[in-house]
Amino acid sequence: MNTLLSAEKLSKNFGSVTAVANVTLTINSGEIVAIMGRSGSGKTTTMHLLAGLETPSGGQVVYQGQNIAGLDEDALALWRRDNIGLIFQAFHLIPTLSALENVAFPLYPAGIPAAERRQRAAERLAQVGLADRADHRPSRLSGGEQQRVAIARALINNPGLILADEPTGNLDSQTGQEILALFQRLRQEAGVSFVIVTHDDEVAATADRVIRMKDGEIMNSE
Ligand SMILES: Nc1ncnc2c1ncn2[C@@H]1O[C@H](COP(=O)(O)OP(=O)(O)OP(=O)(O)O)[C@@H](O)[C@H]1O
Ligand SMILES: [Mg+2]
Repeated sequence: MNTLLSAEKLSKNFGSVTAVANVTLTINSGEIVAIMGRSGSGKTTTMHLLAGLETPSGGQVVYQGQNIAGLDEDALALWRRDNIGLIFQAFHLIPTLSALENVAFPLYPAGIPAAERRQRAAERLAQVGLADRADHRPSRLSGGEQQRVAIARALINNPGLILADEPTGNLDSQTGQEILALFQRLRQEAGVSFVIVTHDDEVAATADRVIRMKDGEIMNSE
């Protein structure tokens, strides 16, 4: 398998709090990896380090052979835009925009013409099964539909890696399973890798591998 991302001896301190300590992990292309652990064990912080949203106190993240610590702030933002998709428990859609406009939103800074933005967003909405909801605002969508819009948005720049922090935490289990099935399909169709932070054993059971964290450290990696 091809290595997509490797983290080596990552650590992150917030003042006297050690949120992440000595985390070494590898994510392969097309792999779905779950991160589990109790509240406060460092899962979200690890995810932020992998996305370059936090600067590590020690260690490094290498993505497709590139050490992202070597990037300045602007280059890091471009790298994240082109390679990383982020999905959150609370969806984080913009309430005043339609589903289509939410999906197209990450394309604005790139100066892509409006017609192309709409076209690309429409393709992504169709991919997550929401072509017929393009004009709906988030308040007129169910939770599962809102999360699918967020997934379409995360996919808009064809990232290699999607980082999802409790993506099914606000959904009933049936809807959560549909979201996980969608991840599996996107891995098949587009070769996207996923890191899914979850508290839910059923969610973790759908992953290829489970990384367990405790007190900022990886306990085991199967
Ligand atoms: N910005 C911050 N400033 C100070 N401490 C922080 C900050 N972010 C996280 N922490 C601390 O780091 C530790 C790990 O936090 P993190 O959010 O990574 O945990 P988590 O595993 O995602 O927990 P949860 O399951 O509750 O989301 C916690 O003790 C937390 O209080
Ligand atoms: Mg968290």
